[in-house]
Amino acid sequence: MQKSSVTTKPTEKPAAETATAEKPTKEKPTAASKNASADKRFKVLDATMKRNQYRQDALIEILHKAQESFGYLEEEVLLYVAKGLKLPLSRVYGVATFYHLFSLKPSGKHTCVVCLGTACYVKGSDKAMAALEQHTGIKSGETTPDGEISLVAARCIGACGIAPAFVFDGKVVGQLTPEAAVERLKEWQPQA
Ligand code: FES
Repeated sequence: MQKSSVTTKPTEKPAAETATAEKPTKEKPTAASKNASADKRFKVLDATMKRNQYRQDALIEILHKAQESFGYLEEEVLLYVAKGLKLPLSRVYGVATFYHLFSLKPSGKHTCVVCLGTACYVKGSDKAMAALEQHTGIKSGETTPDGEISLVAARCIGACGIAPAFVFDGKVVGQLTPEAAVERLKEWQPQA
């Protein structure tokens, strides 16, 4: 998961040097750090979590604020919130994909999150994603032209034990073959 980018730990260095070499405090732990504006949004998110005293039952409110700030709930944001509230990422994904007011990128009527994290990848989630992409005719991160289905890739949703893991409209499902994943998706499709 998230790396704090501070990798070296000069434990043997004298205290004085450590003090000066101290972190520049402004480095951001997320991929969104490329954008200065994104950094500010994470600060807003921090403030919101703090104001709610990092209460887990404030998850929806916090996601709401996050969506307001980011426009949608991208993976990094969900991870950030999960860490802040000490909640399993799968739970945060579940809530974020269950409520229609939240969107993880393009928002189709239904959202299928496919975990491409290591544990799931090893169990073939990439093949499942490929099968889903082929079936829907869209790529991960896109929504079908009829607005029915969005495909979203995640890195690890905290359900490695049931890899490969998926989230279908908020419901975490594991151990699906590519065929089974496609079958699952078909349930959403108005018989064409
Ligand atoms: S790698 Fe997929 S749930 Fe952890």
